[in-house]
Parts: sequence; structure tokens; C-alpha cells
Amino acid sequence: SGSVRLAVIGGDGIGPEVTAEALKVLEVAAPDGVGFEQTAYDLGAERYLATGEVLPDSVLAEIREHDAILLGAVGGKPNDPNLPPGILERGLLLRLRFELDHYVNLRPSRIFPGVTSPLADPGDVDFVVVREGTEGPYTGNGGALRVGTPAEIATEVSVNTAYGVQRVVRDAFARAARRPRKKLTLVHKTNVLVHAGSLWWRTVQAVATEFPDVTVDYIHVDAAMIFLATDPARFDVVVTDNLFGDILTDLAAAITGGIGLAASGNVNPDRTSPSMFEPVHGSAPDIAGQQKADPTAAILSTSLLLDHLGYADAAAAVEDAVVADLADREPGSTRRTSEVGDAIAARVAG
Ligand code: NAD
Ligand code: IPM
Ligand code: MN
Repeated sequence: SGSVRLAVIGGDGIGPEVTAEALKVLEVAAPDGVGFEQTAYDLGAERYLATGEVLPDSVLAEIREHDAILLGAVGGKPNDPNLPPGILERGLLLRLRFELDHYVNLRPSRIFPGVTSPLADPGDVDFVVVREGTEGPYTGNGGALRVGTPAEIATEVSVNTAYGVQRVVRDAFARAARRPRKKLTLVHKTNVLVHAGSLWWRTVQAVATEFPDVTVDYIHVDAAMIFLATDPARFDVVVTDNLFGDILTDLAAAITGGIGLAASGNVNPDRTSPSMFEPVHGSAPDIAGQQKADPTAAILSTSLLLDHLGYADAAAAVEDAVVADLADREPGSTRRTSEVGDAIAARVAG
């Protein structure tokens, strides 16, 4: 028993819609005696457009005092002249991931029973991507010179530190060691990005000696796209850098039933700050405000959240309810966002 302090950032577009359903499910899934004390934060496009604030330091300090964060999505309306691309993505989402040291971006991919993959014969797909969350080309280490002239130069330098690579690689090995197939695949581009590639490959080789039961595989990122489309069942645990992991996990979502099902956790395994759980998808401005979004990814993200907090049974109950709901879905069904949430919450409640 006890209480869990949960920071909730619904965000933009479909973010608040899917988060409402995730909270509905969390409420019924909470173990007996455990209360989720929620603090809602109105961060996102609306606040930025009204006040110019993205993530004030005082708000970040408050969020830090929570046990976990549930996030919907960030990103305003496309081509809004008052909201240049990146303001919210970098200033809110990435700032949270960096400041809270979410170095493990955990993105499981499974084809659940009854879910149709666009692949004719995908096989038994059940892998997890451990995407590095604090480095790579995401750090903002770059700049532009002579902007708007024919001599413009733009750089986004990928940052890879020995410290950052070893900690995420070690986490990925530990996850692989706990899974039946015990296989780890490094996805990179060591044939071209030789400096970072060499660091990642040497790190994998070194950490492998600590995990003699884990089989190690390596695939270049371009070929990994081939295998995701032709033989996704070959993957067990994939470890990769921040940008490769971003791209890879949208394709992984697409082959396992769609972006509406893909959950993620931005995890700080050392527990020095709250971890953050969110669907892999964005704010989907094309369907926002219409109750058309599938809240399943957000709901499965609460299963990851519960598991992270040590409530394994509650996490499994949420996942089981989702699996049951998915198995019963009619092809072409047009349930509203809230109807999907209600149905899954009812199954959790039993
Ligand atoms: P997106 O994931 O928002 O949408 C891509 C496509 O998937 C759209 O057609 C959308 O309608 C559909 N889709 C997404 N989620 C769905 C759901 N739950 N149910 C049904 N359909 C769904 O990606 P985008 O269009 O590239 O980005 C839109 C905005 O979101 C941008 O501002 C982007 O920066 C931001 N973004 C934020 C996050 C995040 O907050 N974690 C993730 C990705 C993109
Ligand atoms: C995701 C998103 C984010 C990312 C963007 C919005 C910063 O695409 O969570 O996958 O690239 O990590
Ligand atoms: Mn993405």
C-alpha cells in the first residue's frame, strides 16, 4: 500500500485524448491500497502560444519530485508560423528525457494474437528495442552558418560517450539475459559512421564477456530495415543509438499492428529521477479532437509504468486486458477513443 505521485502531461493533439483513457485504466489497475496521486501539467503548444513558456525550470523541479510521469504527445498544428518545428519536441520532450537521464528508451514490439500485420507471414514477433535516449544526434550539438545563403552549412553532430554507450548496452544485455532467447542485436552503421560505430561495437564486445549466455549479433541499420520487413522474428533485444532507434521503432510499430499499439518507457534504470511512459506516436494533428485515436499504445504504456514501479501483477493485468480486447476487435471497427478505454478498463476491473 502507499501512494504513487504521478505527473501527467497530456500535451497536444491526441495526447490528452489517449492519456485520459490510460488514466481510466490505471485507476482500475492500481493494486489494492495503492493510490495514484496525480498532478496534471498543462505543457505543450497551447501554453507556449499563450505565454512563450515550454518547460519552466520551476515546473521541471516539481515534476522531478514525482515517482513517474505519464505523457501523451507533444507537437502543435503543422506549419504554424508561431510554432517552429522543434520548439516543443526539443524544449519539452527531449529536455525531460535529458534532464531526467532517461538513457533507456524501451520500446517493445509484439504481434499480439488476433492482430493483423501488414506482413503476410511475419512469424512469432516479440522483440524489444533498447534505444539510447540521451545522446546521438539528439543532443543539439551542431549549428548553422551563413543561413539562407548558397553557402549555408548545417551540422548536427552525433554525440556518443563511452559512459553513455556502456550503460545502455549493459542494460540491453541484462534484458536479453532475462529473456528466453537471450539474443542481443546491435544495430548501427559501423561501415560508415566509423568513430561512433567502433565505440558501440567495442562496447558490445566488452560487455558481452559479463553475459556469456547472451548471443550477440550485429546488423547495419539499412539491412535491419530489410529484416524488419522480411524476418522480424529474428530479433529479440535490439540495442541502438537514439536516431536509429527512433526510425526503427516506427517501422517496428507498423509491422506489429500499427502505431496505435506501440508503447514506450523512457527509463532511468538507476532511479535517480522519475521515468516517463508514453506512446511511441505523436500528437497526430490529422485526427486530433475527433475521438478517432487508438488509446491502446497509451494504455500499454501504463503497463510498462506499473511494471517499472514494481507492480508486476497490475502491469500484467493491463496487458492481459489489452490482449483480450485486441483479440476481439472487429476488422475495420470504428470504436471511439473513449469506448476502447472503457472496454479495456472494464476487462481490468474483471
Ligand atoms: P504521428 O505519430 O503523430 O502521426 C503519424 C500518423 O499516425 C498520422 O496519420 C496519425 O493520424 C497516425 N496515428 C498516430 N497515433 C495514432 C493513434 N493513437 N491512433 C490512430 N492513428 C494514429 O507522427 P507525425 O505526424 O510525424 O507527428 C505529428 C507531431 O507529433 C509532430 O509535431 C511531431 O514532432 C510530434 N511527435 C511527438 C511525439 C511524442 O510526443 N513522443 C512522437 C512523434 C511525433
Ligand atoms: C518519438 C518522437 C520523438 C523522438 C520526437 C518528437 C522528439 O519521434 O518519441 O519517437 O524523435 O524521439
Ligand atoms: Mn519517433
